[in-house]
Amino acid sequence: MKKFDVINAILGERINNVPQSIATAFAPTNIALCKYWGKRDTELNLPKTSSLSITLDGKGTTTTIRVVDSSDNIIFNGKPIHSDSTFSRRLLAFLDLFRLKNPVRFHIECDSNIPLSAGLASSASGFASIVLALNQLYGWQLSLEDLSILARLGSGSACRSLWNGFVEWKMGLKEDGMDSHGYPIPKKWPELCMGLLLINRGEKAISSRSAMERTQLTSPLYALWPKKVNDDLLLIKEAIATHDFSLLGKTAESNAMTMHAIMLSAWPSICYSQPATLAAMQQIWKLRQEGLEIYFTQDAGPNLKLLFLSDEIKTVNSIFSDIDTVQF
Ligand code: PMV
Repeated sequence: MKKFDVINAILGERINNVPQSIATAFAPTNIALCKYWGKRDTELNLPKTSSLSITLDGKGTTTTIRVVDSSDNIIFNGKPIHSDSTFSRRLLAFLDLFRLKNPVRFHIECDSNIPLSAGLASSASGFASIVLALNQLYGWQLSLEDLSILARLGSGSACRSLWNGFVEWKMGLKEDGMDSHGYPIPKKWPELCMGLLLINRGEKAISSRSAMERTQLTSPLYALWPKKVNDDLLLIKEAIATHDFSLLGKTAESNAMTMHAIMLSAWPSICYSQPATLAAMQQIWKLRQEGLEIYFTQDAGPNLKLLFLSDEIKTVNSIFSDIDTVQF
């Protein structure tokens, strides 16, 4: 497996480290303004394009890993997770990558303050927090770049969750993906706000992994995506550098709408939007026509993330009563 080669290259002799008894780490989630959609290597989660996100400070997952004598078990938000569930199998398969030489058992507790699998990037903060916890547990002392590469092996977007603020995931060119990780963009934008508009807390019908694969294999429009991303990345970086909110909002919304349009053209079609998602989009477009500068982005789920500036917090909160707003 190529994953082991990457892990060996990063850990070297440290793969033999004996774990301490317990470690805890938090990682925030991130929302892409220019999306990652499609892979050039499914085993290593190497993307077809670069992508760019903003980290939601304080919203994410805390993971505690404890070494135990009994069998592996996982608790998510206080509830035991069945060992046959997709969540459990995916998590344990990831942990297995690191304990081949030293077969210990783990009790894992994940506490997330974001809804699981509803397109709110819970897997990004989940895998990033696991990697940070493992780094402590085994005393690896890895750089954030190396941790980003390891987090990517769990979930692509997790590689952007190792930093606060704006983060670019450069796709890299190397076959082993050693240059495909997060790069922080050292620019602040304190007036920028993101409001999480929850349409539905339920689990998504199709995982982003399967949806990406189906889109790449069947959509006649997928060939357009890499150029769209390259153009949008330039515009978003320019918007961040000059604090041009209209450019940022317009580009992020157009990027998300293009991604979803391409998914609609897959076969069978992939549609993460629900009637309430479309109603919210139409409400946002109407508000914009009326002069309120507000935009949205959407990931692999029905929920929307609203983009606006802090001057408009009161207005936006009065229109969308139950949004959860994060300021950068
Ligand atoms: O990292 P994954 O496999 O959960 O995929 C994330 C996909 C999107 O959220 C839709 C886009 C992105 O860049 O985060």
